[in-house]
Amino acid sequence: MKTVLITGCSTGFGLEIARYFLDRDWSVIATMRKPREDVLPRSERLTILPLDVTSAASIAACVAAAGPVDVLVNNAGVGLLNALEGTPMEAVRTVFETNTFGVMAMTQAVLPEFRARKAGVIVNVTSGVTVKPLHLLSVYTASKAAVNAFSESVALELEPFGVRVRVVLPGRAPETAFGQNARALMSTGIPEAYAEIAEGVFAKWGKQPVDEVTHAVDVAEAVWRAATDPSCPMRLPAGADAVAAMAAAAGSVLA
Ligand SMILES: NC(=O)c1ccc[n+]([C@@H]2O[C@H](COP(=O)([O-])OP(=O)(O)OC[C@H]3O[C@@H](n4cnc5c(N)ncnc54)[C@H](OP(=O)(O)O)[C@@H]3O)[C@@H](O)[C@H]2O)c1
Repeated sequence: MKTVLITGCSTGFGLEIARYFLDRDWSVIATMRKPREDVLPRSERLTILPLDVTSAASIAACVAAAGPVDVLVNNAGVGLLNALEGTPMEAVRTVFETNTFGVMAMTQAVLPEFRARKAGVIVNVTSGVTVKPLHLLSVYTASKAAVNAFSESVALELEPFGVRVRVVLPGRAPETAFGQNARALMSTGIPEAYAEIAEGVFAKWGKQPVDEVTHAVDVAEAVWRAATDPSCPMRLPAGADAVAAMAAAAGSVLA
């Protein structure tokens, strides 16, 4: 039986990815900053462990308690929507600590075991905004674009050891707690000079039809493919909007 370790399983995509792998008879290590037993179905194949990806001690304890895993899914992440001018550097650092350095630290933590076994897959959840830039997301986009680049480069040095790395790029998913969680880093508010831009962004999102956004199950399906199909492309979009953005970006490169 294969084992997957997933970061950020308390809500949203992480929770859905955990359900998806459980339904397919995998052993699932669902990690959360504040472990909760009531969010996933009870199963002897499910282990819930505490993990904060910004803490070296938490990562070491989690990986030791988890034992051997076949797939690591770096899903945990925080959002931040604001003009750069309205974003304190402390918030910039928090975003990078979680979205970028957390991914690198978790990858480092599983690699000795993956390399020794000459097997293992790392799936990094980034974002469709790295393909189609949107207003007021410069810091968040940079934190995720760094992971795209990191993944593509580290994949080269890990390939000789039988370790695969893939990136899943979800589109906008209003149904998760992401927007709400992002507000914690936006306490300073959007500067007045950018209010009109922000209104435009929110108005556009308000009109986006439900079949043109991303759903958690789209992300779970994409992560499943990235984890189990060696022919999966390096960058896999998840959700109708991300698929469209990726196709448009490929078209503009070819044009
Ligand atoms: N929703 C979207 O529109 C969207 C689009 C593209 C990409 N994404 C990416 O998809 C991933 C999942 O997002 P989501 O939509 O499912 O949002 P979400 O519901 O807010 O889930 C994010 C998860 O990350 C966890 N997390 C945050 N900081 C952490 C830390 N330091 N250590 C460990 N876990 C931490 C959160 O745990 P707590 O409950 O403890 O806060 C939560 O479980 C993120 O990487 C996000 O950037 C989201």
